[in-house]
Amino acid sequence: MQIRDEILRLKKEKNAVILAHCYQNIEIDEVADFVGDSLYLSQMAAKTDADIIVFAGVYFMAQTAKIISPNKKIFLPNMNSGCLMADMVDLNQLRDFKSKHKNIPVVCYINSTAEVKSECDICVTSSNAIKVVKSLNAPEILFLPDTYLGKYVESQLKNVKVTTYPGFCPTHIKITEDDVKKARENHPNALILTHPECHKNVCELSDFVGSTSQIIKYAGESTNNEFVIATEKGVAERLKRDFPQKTFYLIKDDIVCPNMKCNTLDDIYNVLKNEINEIMVDENISKKALKSISKMLEVCK
Ligand code: 13P
Ligand code: SF4
Repeated sequence: MQIRDEILRLKKEKNAVILAHCYQNIEIDEVADFVGDSLYLSQMAAKTDADIIVFAGVYFMAQTAKIISPNKKIFLPNMNSGCLMADMVDLNQLRDFKSKHKNIPVVCYINSTAEVKSECDICVTSSNAIKVVKSLNAPEILFLPDTYLGKYVESQLKNVKVTTYPGFCPTHIKITEDDVKKARENHPNALILTHPECHKNVCELSDFVGSTSQIIKYAGESTNNEFVIATEKGVAERLKRDFPQKTFYLIKDDIVCPNMKCNTLDDIYNVLKNEINEIMVDENISKKALKSISKMLEVCK
């Protein structure tokens, strides 16, 4: 029997769902119940009445699902799926950052650890960061860990000063201004669609900046037929699959998050069958982190 069928059988038997981020190996979509960006997946984690969630994504995503649904069993297919950006700030670094900028609301990107979330005021994802920051009505905020998303939010909001922590995504930062210029020369009819984790200069030269799901929606709804995708390879692959009548070019071959690609169908089968790699979060941390996540979900209902 194929591994796919075995996964589907185990899902039914155990009342499990599989959530998959758009950067996952594309064959995982065939067994997934929900595929999307980090906001959508955290909303689905909150909604589902399954007993088990297998989170095909990176560690912080599975951890967030556990915080939202503490009574469910959450499994990460492969424990090597960390997020290099999330690991750039720990609790001590956060406290140090806050102590240098006192009494300013602290906004943390969902790409962060539970400990960091537990000492921030509100969470954001790349798809709701502007809306959430705006909802604070604050003249100044602290933003971490991603300096580029923070600065992008600042560029989109008048009158909000965003002081950022110097974290970044090693995958998105590989995309350079030169890559965008070359893409324009090579594909003059294409629109360039970019994730806000990219460098400021790259965002400024692009036609559209948005989260994973926003890029997919934009490309699907646009009357244009050609697009250059300036984000992780998984997004370009899914666009090619879902809109075969349109043409998509990944801006550069190596825009691949190695951590996202750790999870395989074998790993998913293994965690479902043997219930290993369960994600646990300290109860106290979890309660505090839930406040910042719930505030975000409330703004985006
Ligand atoms: P999204 O919020 O677009 O899903 O992005 C998550 C991420 O890790 C991007 O690198
Ligand atoms: Fe983290 Fe970057 Fe990978 Fe997203 S692409 S999970 S930010 S390392």
